[in-house]
Amino acid sequence: MTAVSTHHSGGEFFRNVFDLEGKVAIIIGGTGSLCGAMAKGLWQSGCKVVLVGRNADKAEAHFKNWSAGSESARFCRADVTARAEVESIIPAVSDWYGRIDIWVNGVGMVSPTPYTEIGDDEFSNMIKINLLTVHLGCQTIGKNWISKKQGGSIINVASMSAIRPLSRNFMYSLAKAALWNLTQNLAREWAPYRIRVNAISPGFFPTAINRAILDKSRVDAILGHTPMGRFGEPEELIGATLLLASEKAGSFITGSNLVVDGGFAITSI
Ligand SMILES: NC(=O)c1ccc[n+]([C@@H]2O[C@H](COP(=O)([O-])OP(=O)(O)OC[C@H]3O[C@@H](n4cnc5c(N)ncnc54)[C@H](O)[C@@H]3O)[C@@H](O)[C@H]2O)c1
Repeated sequence: MTAVSTHHSGGEFFRNVFDLEGKVAIIIGGTGSLCGAMAKGLWQSGCKVVLVGRNADKAEAHFKNWSAGSESARFCRADVTARAEVESIIPAVSDWYGRIDIWVNGVGMVSPTPYTEIGDDEFSNMIKINLLTVHLGCQTIGKNWISKKQGGSIINVASMSAIRPLSRNFMYSLAKAALWNLTQNLAREWAPYRIRVNAISPGFFPTAINRAILDKSRVDAILGHTPMGRFGEPEELIGATLLLASEKAGSFITGSNLVVDGGFAITSI
């Protein structure tokens, strides 16, 4: 009788389903904390990655931790509030890697200004940083993919505030809600072109953008409302990123908002 082995390895199956080898991922805001971790996960899964931002030193600080001089991780300088600068990303990356498969829109900025005090400049600035950047990113890569008859995956970084407005985050909530609507609208419009458009909504992750507004009472309120009782770590966004990026694992996923928040959103008291 032949012995039946009870041990098996799922490694090959897993690698096949999440295969990202040789794909090229653009991460707008990849110089920052959360998108830097998402970029790291994509790179470690075999993608070539391009971190887009305004500060080369911040990109280098990420590269030092993982890619360490590899040709398959690069920085592209762009202020993504300007259309021409967003458009300049595609020829630069095409020269380096020849194609683009995954595009992450992850620039964002919070502001605690109460509604009655929001001036016109702040209003347009917050829309510019949290919404215009995402619109320019989607439109630029979408037009490119459609003209080439190539599919792809767009991941927009939303927030808890996109669904239910967060206190002390008026303009941010407004812009993220519009970002989520844009994501759904494009998922519907671009499905025939094999372009999947999804959002990731991180819960609370202390980073450069929100540290200043996380005083003790706010921290207690957030953690008291988070069943897991802690903040998120940037690396905890990697699983969601790989799922949405992978054309096999994520093949039927479009127009979704993947929440990564320790249970914050589903908790009412
Ligand atoms: N930190 C959180 O708890 C949290 C929660 C939910 C959603 N988010 C979202 O996650 C995303 C990343 O946030 P983060 O916490 O990592 O912040 P971060 O400040 O570390 O990262 C943002 C990056 O974008 C860059 N950037 C800003 N304006 C730019 C511009 N005009 N052109 C090019 N680059 C620009 C910044 O220099 C920075 O490197 C944002 O969209 C944010 O709204 C964060």
